[in-house]
Amino acid sequence: MLGLRRAFAALLPLPRAGSPPAAAMSTLLIRQERYAWLRELGLQEENPGVYNGRWGGRGQVVTTYCPANNEPIASVRQGNLEDYEETVKKAKEAWKVWADIPAPKRGEIVRQIGDALRQKIKVLGSLVSLEMGKIYVEGVGEVQEYVDVCDYAVGLSRMIGGPILPSERPGHALIEQWNPVGLVGVITAFNFPVAVYGWNSAIAMICGNACLWKGAPTTSLVSVAVTKIIAKVLEDNKLPGAICSLVCGGADIGTAMARDERMDLLSFTGSTKVGKQVALMVQERFGRSLLELGGNNAIIVFEDADLNLVIPSALFAAVGTAGQRCTTARRLFLHESIHDEVVAKLAKAYAQVRIGDPWDSDTLYGPLHTKEAVKMFLDAVEQAKQQGGSVVCGGKVINRPGNYVEPTIVTGLPHNAPIVHTETFAPILYVLKFKEEEEVFAWNNEVKQGLSSSIFTKDLGRIFRWLGDRAFPDPKEELCLIFVCRPKGSDCGIVNVNIPTSGAEIGGAFGGEKHTGGGRESGSDSWKLYMRRST
Ligand code: UN1
Repeated sequence: MLGLRRAFAALLPLPRAGSPPAAAMSTLLIRQERYAWLRELGLQEENPGVYNGRWGGRGQVVTTYCPANNEPIASVRQGNLEDYEETVKKAKEAWKVWADIPAPKRGEIVRQIGDALRQKIKVLGSLVSLEMGKIYVEGVGEVQEYVDVCDYAVGLSRMIGGPILPSERPGHALIEQWNPVGLVGVITAFNFPVAVYGWNSAIAMICGNACLWKGAPTTSLVSVAVTKIIAKVLEDNKLPGAICSLVCGGADIGTAMARDERMDLLSFTGSTKVGKQVALMVQERFGRSLLELGGNNAIIVFEDADLNLVIPSALFAAVGTAGQRCTTARRLFLHESIHDEVVAKLAKAYAQVRIGDPWDSDTLYGPLHTKEAVKMFLDAVEQAKQQGGSVVCGGKVINRPGNYVEPTIVTGLPHNAPIVHTETFAPILYVLKFKEEEEVFAWNNEVKQGLSSSIFTKDLGRIFRWLGDRAFPDPKEELCLIFVCRPKGSDCGIVNVNIPTSGAEIGGAFGGEKHTGGGRESGSDSWKLYMRRST
């Protein structure tokens, strides 16, 4: 992480800390000379927010703001329901062309998209940093994930296939063939405005689907910039641009997508609250959804853990992206014998986190995305106090422009305090004490969400029990059988050992259980969710 940060620091196209303040508070940043690099992404002061082979948009004009200073960047004219209707029709037409192209040739197009993204990686990463508020290396890292998943998808385009099974009938063949579903709707959240679309679209595309994307309204410029890069590749290859359509919009477009029978799969990343509404609307029409919803991720530290790993990992997981990842660590369970020592060390590490403009090369911690998020943070800190928690560090808004809050550690709450069971999308870490493995594994699992989880230990038996292994005996049982059934470890989709809860690998299937929604994106056999099986 740090190496990456240094490597990219020299290449920053963004203003450095200490640059003079913006000329006029109300002037769009894109008009200012030092933000001229935004034009390298094809952005203008007002941008059409609908793409279906042609750019347009007849909806509301939405201005997006830089979370580090709340200054307006530029605006996007969103799509209205007519734009949506037109775009779905065009995407369905485009699908007919795309589905006929052999999968490895579709892979070749995805390879070109990956290459085009590579060429713009720094400038697009900078836009992510400017519009979302995450630090520059994380912005670039997101684009890198899209590039990586393109590479992955290129290989996959030559590998996806189904088995030929032994038929019980003489002279018959029993074949499982995978076919594209058709049109895949992708609704993404503000916190990963590039990578999550990449995970979905690269895989969906090689599977032979057309995509229709709606990003978060507050990161509309990123959606437009990414789509411009893809559109050029499609158009250069004389393919219909509507294979990768975009409709920037709000809840009206999201609802239309969820209700639309023509949306053969709807991938939704966002809150559990909205995800539930989406899931119900899709289910109502017996449609298919792929949900990536909230997390309430725990790190468990046992008495034998290597604290040199624990401190930076907990810090990175809780404070990275200012606590705005679905994989952010929100609960830190410490064995009672090391509780005080770890809290002291962690508080010391928190004090060293360099807070600043997200594009400054020294910054490790930037602002929250919106002013509303700051209110949610303050409200959660208040509730934590009322429920018996003590604020060890942080807890306050930082007095500077932008949506900055202090990274916060709260101790002394019971494992089942209501606030501990609530996902607040902010950098608040609840530190909790435990005595026994069995109780803490149960506490890991007692929340509604089931996305990511981590233990820190050197005990191999415990590691396998955590993973849900069935072959490792419980040391407390004297007469245990070697094949005792013990799938009682973490119930999450992501089950880590000696690493933090956040930071997805594109090669694995990403997603979680229970109120996280059950979806799986990106690697492994997630591609099957973007296809239908014909037996
Ligand atoms: C990561 O932790 O690197 O919204 C990825 C999110 C996830 C992506 C997390 N969909 O935070």
